[in-house]
Amino acid sequence: MRNTTKEVIGLDIGTSRIVAARRENDGYGFEAQLNAFVTIPYSRITENVLTKESVPHCVNGAEITVFGNEAARIADLLNVETRRPMTRGVLNPGEPQSLAQIRRLLTSVLGEAPKQGHKVCFTVPAPGVGSEENITYHETMIRQILRDFGYEVRSLNEGLAVIYGELEDSNYTGVGISFGGGLCNVALAYMSVPVLSFSTPKGGDFIDSSAAAVTGELANRVRLVKEDGFSLNGHYSEKIHQALSVYYDDMMQSVVNGLKEAFEASRNVPKLGKKIPLVLSGGSALPAGFRDRFEKLIQEASLPVQFSEIRLASDPLYATAKGALVAALAD
Ligand SMILES: Nc1ncnc2c1ncn2[C@@H]1O[C@H](COP(=O)(O)OP(=O)(O)O)[C@@H](O)[C@H]1O
Ligand SMILES: [Mg+2]
Repeated sequence: MRNTTKEVIGLDIGTSRIVAARRENDGYGFEAQLNAFVTIPYSRITENVLTKESVPHCVNGAEITVFGNEAARIADLLNVETRRPMTRGVLNPGEPQSLAQIRRLLTSVLGEAPKQGHKVCFTVPAPGVGSEENITYHETMIRQILRDFGYEVRSLNEGLAVIYGELEDSNYTGVGISFGGGLCNVALAYMSVPVLSFSTPKGGDFIDSSAAAVTGELANRVRLVKEDGFSLNGHYSEKIHQALSVYYDDMMQSVVNGLKEAFEASRNVPKLGKKIPLVLSGGSALPAGFRDRFEKLIQEASLPVQFSEIRLASDPLYATAKGALVAALAD
């Protein structure tokens, strides 16, 4: 099919998942792939099945690399860890195939057709509190890949993307937080203008690896347990759930501490003069009870800002991509 209208895409390049958002009829359409891969021995049968099931993969010699959503389940069946092109919000310096696999994953959510003149806005994490991660390198490499595809490219801070995606009703005034796999990203905007942003290094991966370390499980296995109906209800009969709750609290407390420090260090914030909304998004905000627990920690912290509401994003897994699309459409 030949489409002459130029596509506009919001792209959330997360440590855990890559999500593309597009305008669709009256609403939005999303396409997501797990930002992970696993290599398995080559066999003709396996290759045929993967092709038939439309599982993204490629063959290199005696190996097949499976990337995206199916990689986690295959890794779990084989009792190995998935490999990750990104870690802590940026390209994984310890993964030699990071760029090659990101390029493949991007092709699978963006499509193979040339993109000359199409627009994409992708999200980048905020610098960490006291961390030295190289965001500049990451951002430059992603920009280059997207330019090679033919796109007109711009980037957007991830916390600000949550605000664009969720806080139209308050004219983009408020706090947006994305609880992701690699990082948590936080931003405060006043009438769409970014006032402050930061990231904290404890996200879902931290929860998985910490809970794995104290229970003797593989992190990939812990993640699958966590995603299968784990809830923060205060009652934990299994050790793995108990461990998950401990590290969930640690992740949330780090964000609350970050907010407290950032608000207290900023001379502008107390001048807001009114209550503002706070929106929670990202895959790590999904367990039942998350919002209530977070609100309790906020109340205990006595921040210099008051919130009119603390709520979950309408679709926590897609809020960032949607916000990036809102930014791209506004250009
Ligand atoms: N249903 C779920 N319950 C709990 N955690 C989940 C669920 N779905 C995804 N996650 C976790 O959310 C994190 C990924 O969130 P996401 O917003 O996609 O991250 P990123 O921005 O890093 O790509 C992972 O740690 C994943 O295990
Ligand atoms: Mg994210």
